[in-house]
Amino acid sequence: MAGFSSRAASMLVVFLVLLSFSEAREFLVGGKADAWAVPSSESQSLNKWAESKRFNTGDILVWKYDSAKDSVLHVTKEDYVNCNMSSPIKQYKDGETKIVLDRPGPFYFISGTKDHCEKGQKLVVVVMSPRNRASTISPAPSPAVEIDGPAVAPAPTSTASPFKAAGVLVVALMGFSAALLI
Ligand SMILES: *[C@@H]1O[C@H](CO)[C@@H](O)[C@H](O)[C@H]1NC(C)=O
Repeated sequence: MAGFSSRAASMLVVFLVLLSFSEAREFLVGGKADAWAVPSSESQSLNKWAESKRFNTGDILVWKYDSAKDSVLHVTKEDYVNCNMSSPIKQYKDGETKIVLDRPGPFYFISGTKDHCEKGQKLVVVVMSPRNRASTISPAPSPAVEIDGPAVAPAPTSTASPFKAAGVLVVALMGFSAALLI
């Protein structure tokens, strides 16, 4: 059964390749070393850069800047909006800052240099929910609603995660096409 084992091997390779895609990645903020600065225009803003990226849990943001002139403040949404530097969640001023995006949801950063945030040196990064998260959230049971007639029961919700199913389908399809190539 040589056919079977080479097919199994190719499936394994495909699986390992897919696994490697889910590994943490490092993002240099703004895409270049001196990007943590007051943007020269709206189109150069760091949020424009962030919008073009997909961030997953475990990914790492890297800032490179002159530590004598700037710093990175991880702040709350409110402090981000108001450019309030007085009580950051955490501040970094080592010139090469790495922050692990360790949970889904938004992360807010502003410059620690006076007036820089007001001039647009700020960044919000939204981290995607992990794929398997959908299966752990079950909607709260809603009671049957009676509106001027017979009770309307809510449709039963499936417990299967569509994301997980899609992932399995992708693995299966890729394994299948890899097997065809061999
Ligand atoms: C900045 O934040 C501090 C602490 O949260 C607060 O006391 C202060 O009023 C804020 N300043 C402004 C200008 O919003």
